[in-house]
Amino acid sequence: MGSGNSTNFWICGTSSEKENKRNGGFTTGGKINLTDPEKTGGAPIWGVIDKRRSIRSFSSDKSLDLKKLSQLLWAAYGLTESSLGRGEQKKGGKFRAAPSAYGKYTIGVFVFVGKKRVRDGENCIKNGVYYYCPNDHSLTLVNKKSVEDILLCFPNEKHFVKDANIIVLLASDTEKINWLSDAEKELAEDKGHVYAYMDSGYISMNVCLAATALDLATVPIAKLIKERGNSLLKIDEAQKSNLESSEICGSKFELVIVLPVGFKDGVT
Ligand SMILES: Cc1cc2nc3c(=O)[nH]c(=O)nc-3n(C[C@H](O)[C@H](O)[C@H](O)COP(=O)(O)O)c2cc1C
Repeated sequence: MGSGNSTNFWICGTSSEKENKRNGGFTTGGKINLTDPEKTGGAPIWGVIDKRRSIRSFSSDKSLDLKKLSQLLWAAYGLTESSLGRGEQKKGGKFRAAPSAYGKYTIGVFVFVGKKRVRDGENCIKNGVYYYCPNDHSLTLVNKKSVEDILLCFPNEKHFVKDANIIVLLASDTEKINWLSDAEKELAEDKGHVYAYMDSGYISMNVCLAATALDLATVPIAKLIKERGNSLLKIDEAQKSNLESSEICGSKFELVIVLPVGFKDGVT
């Protein structure tokens, strides 16, 4: 995993205040404050596990409600109950929906929104790639890639990925995966990048289960043209100021796995 393939990127800040008023899903500064997730009720977990299947056929004409996208992203990597934790997270209380090796959270969750494929009431969410910020449960637009740009990354799956409403993109932060101290490196055999792949697996499973619980369809796809995939995470010049106005830091991301999500259509 050479850093030559990785993409320079700015992460959005840790601001917890939802100062931008929601306005049909859009806020100033290219930011969307997502709706608060439901933390009780929903589909029973045993039935969801039993029902989950990789689905490779999506309906091309239904739009996804922003509320469902919000729930899915929270289930993937959102902040969760912190009182049961230990160590450094307990101080900051920043645990997430998916476990993470050493609690380092080295994965960035991005989401591609297809044109007119996600709605908030009467409004369509602008298409493009967004960064999901768990700290304030928001999305920030990073570029305006089209579905055609996205499809260039898939050697074999174009025929169904094109109909997905959204595509969740899980990427490892190439700086963060080198977080181990020398002592830890010895114990862990310096496998920060392996842990990043493992972390992605947990997040990926959360996406699969949440999609099933929300009556949506998905499939994890690891077979990607890496360099093209990394270019999907590149921040547009036009969006830089949006991100710079919040608390941000520089990061380099490498795509690990993606999950197109949509409405099930026909055979799998
Ligand atoms: C790490 C991983 C990578 C995968 N990559 C692909 C892929 O590139 N293309 C694809 O169509 N399915 C992919 N799959 C889905 C598997 O083919 C699928 O999980 C498997 O056939 C079992 O079916 P099930 O998910 O319905 O239980 C991947 C699954 C995992 C866990």
